Amino acid sequence: MAETLVIPQTQDRRVIYDSLVPQIAALVGSEPDLIANLANVAAVLREAFGFFWVGFYLVRDNQLVLGPFQGPVACTRINYGKGVCGTAWAKREVILVPDVDAFPGHIACSSVSKSEIVVPVINQAGTVTVVLDVDSDQLNDFSDVDADGLAKIVALIQ
Ligand code: SME
Repeated sequence: MAETLVIPQTQDRRVIYDSLVPQIAALVGSEPDLIANLANVAAVLREAFGFFWVGFYLVRDNQLVLGPFQGPVACTRINYGKGVCGTAWAKREVILVPDVDAFPGHIACSSVSKSEIVVPVINQAGTVTVVLDVDSDQLNDFSDVDADGLAKIVALIQ
């Protein structure tokens, strides 16, 4: 297992994502436990990018339930179709929110969060099992580079 994360010293997130993908593959590849892998992926993303909040919600009994995360205390349950996370789950697609105040129904776990990206994890049967939520304290902090990079990362943890 790769125990030391190597993070390129650049502001270019594409370069950082490209470096993280094989490292995360090595990190999760030998561990079958989902929670352990989600915990490490949250830690890697937090360490590499310094995001305000990075974490996972798991689909449990038709709700999203808070899973492993890095950052401040967050809301524990989100209903289907509610908030950015519940919407990404229902639509089964990545949702990029440049300004959380402009997203109808955004669930504010912290007033510090200004922009957000949510990436659903879809299993081989086509079911959303988990969503990845990343929050920033900066407006408009996410782009297609993050959507692409995070999609590659969550594909490693199915
Ligand atoms: N803002 C999210 C809720 C989760 S917290 O940001 C960690 C949403 O609207 O779904």
